[in-house]
Amino acid sequence: MLNQIHHGDCIVGMNTMPEGAVDLAFADPPFNIGYDYDVYDDTRARHDYLDWSRAWIGTVHRALKPDGTFWLAIGDEYAAELKLISQEVGFHCRSWVIWYYTFGVNCKAKFSRSHAHLFHFVKDPTQFTFRSDLLENRIPSARQLVYADKRANSVGRLPDDTWILRPQDLVDCLTPGEDTWYFPRVAGTFKERAGFHGCQMPEQLLGRIIKYCSNEGDTVLDPFSGSATTLAVAKKLGRQFLGFDLSPEYIQRGRDRLANCRVGDLLDGAAEPAVSAPTTPPKGTRKGKLTTITATEAATQAEALSTEQRFEKGLVEAFAKSSQGYSLDRLVTDPDLNREFVDHCRKLGLPGDARLWNWKLFNYRKAGKLSSVPTTQRTQISWQDCDQFLFASEIALAKMIADGSESLDAILCDPEQATQFDQIAKSFCPGLTPFQYRWGALMLRKESKSARARADVLRSIAPAKLSSAKPLADAKWTDYPDEAGLYLVLGANDRDKLYVGGSLNLRQRLKHQFSGQPLRTWKRESADLRVRFFTAEPNTPELLAYQCLLIREHKPKLNVRDIAV
Ligand SMILES: C[S@@+](CC[C@H](N)C(=O)[O-])C[C@H]1O[C@@H](n2cnc3c(N)ncnc32)[C@H](O)[C@@H]1O
Repeated sequence: MLNQIHHGDCIVGMNTMPEGAVDLAFADPPFNIGYDYDVYDDTRARHDYLDWSRAWIGTVHRALKPDGTFWLAIGDEYAAELKLISQEVGFHCRSWVIWYYTFGVNCKAKFSRSHAHLFHFVKDPTQFTFRSDLLENRIPSARQLVYADKRANSVGRLPDDTWILRPQDLVDCLTPGEDTWYFPRVAGTFKERAGFHGCQMPEQLLGRIIKYCSNEGDTVLDPFSGSATTLAVAKKLGRQFLGFDLSPEYIQRGRDRLANCRVGDLLDGAAEPAVSAPTTPPKGTRKGKLTTITATEAATQAEALSTEQRFEKGLVEAFAKSSQGYSLDRLVTDPDLNREFVDHCRKLGLPGDARLWNWKLFNYRKAGKLSSVPTTQRTQISWQDCDQFLFASEIALAKMIADGSESLDAILCDPEQATQFDQIAKSFCPGLTPFQYRWGALMLRKESKSARARADVLRSIAPAKLSSAKPLADAKWTDYPDEAGLYLVLGANDRDKLYVGGSLNLRQRLKHQFSGQPLRTWKRESADLRVRFFTAEPNTPELLAYQCLLIREHKPKLNVRDIAV
């Protein structure tokens, strides 16, 4: 049942699922306001709608694990009733979030509607997933940003309970941490719009819910899948998913949407949409040094300036001063540049630590906030240069992820994790700089999307044909071709698949990878190493595409699966 959208009534469908199988359910049911769906009739009698709501909410309760979470999106008409029903069914309300949206409906005889309600319920108020420690779920506190108070928690704070009216009334709209969430609705002209469902939710909104309330690998359920937004976001974020809908057409289109996204893809839309909304900051409130303002000035500024904005300004300044014209990727992977950046942040009195500052820079880049700092210097490392150490970068990344690191970005942002990554890479391929190992991993990730696409083509026109396995101990290096190719490293038996690599020169790669110190490292993986190989064109994109194919087929433990699948 998992990782699919099912056709049919969600109550019937959920009742066929085992009880307690789901970690997180998100439901955006019809609001009973006469909306024109293609199959469902959104004009039920009031009591009928409420009875039906009680039935499906009860079924969601049944489907959830004892520590499961339920988010409900609902309009004004039935928000109060559905909150009460959910509580009667057995849920406990943790947050009542207002989703403020632009492009709302203009009304004539009442205030124009620009919000919906998002209820955050849990089954057990003593046991539920809320990933408040995850760095990307934290926001800097006012104590950190405005007062530069060293006692402040360096990893920021949890979101506030704050109500905000319209973006025009705000200094800089909503920061991502408030509990009134400002995401534009997915209007008809937006790139994100899948183009077939009038109620499509923004991916960023679902992203926040899924990141806070579930872990990677958890199961996410959407009883009213519609255009499959919840399921697509769950897939991108590495969760399992399942959904239901009555409409065959929505289901078909939803399936196409799911087929076109992969684990690790970026979510559509701006992570911090306030960037593009109208803002009216009071004049003259942007100046002043963080560390020298008086308490009264600080209080005045606190009213006028968003704390996040002050932090952002300092961080972008530190980036501009330390990057020497290089890209953010270079700044984060190059320990010398990064040290300089961290020193600048400290001099500016920015709260937090290297991990938070690096991470925030990645977020700012995604939101287009680093465009004021042009990249004038290119980092020039060719695939040929990388050929001798790329495998070490990949294996180090795979090992770190198997050990609990969240992602390459999380490793690079955290100096402690990055050092650990360097040490692993060095044990497989000594003699390179930390920057080279880290940059290799970034190059692999950058190329992975096109490698996956090429792999799909190669699979049908020129499938890989590996030689039979030969023990390394029995082989001479001249047994391996002095040309480009792919290889699979096996342990003592055929099920013991360790690593798939590609190189512009198989003989040199294998010699380099399995002599001296690296061989001792490999022996810790398996005492009896064997290798299968085949030759290919000396063309890195093609080698990477074949590597993807072989990773998909063999699932070796020291490759990074996300790069291939
Ligand atoms: C508000 S839309 C969901 C939109 C979705 N959140 C999105 O981002 O595209 C509600 C969906 O529920 C579906 N629906 C209505 N009654 C249903 C039922 N009993 N079982 C399953 N789906 C149903 C409708 O076909 C519609 O696609």
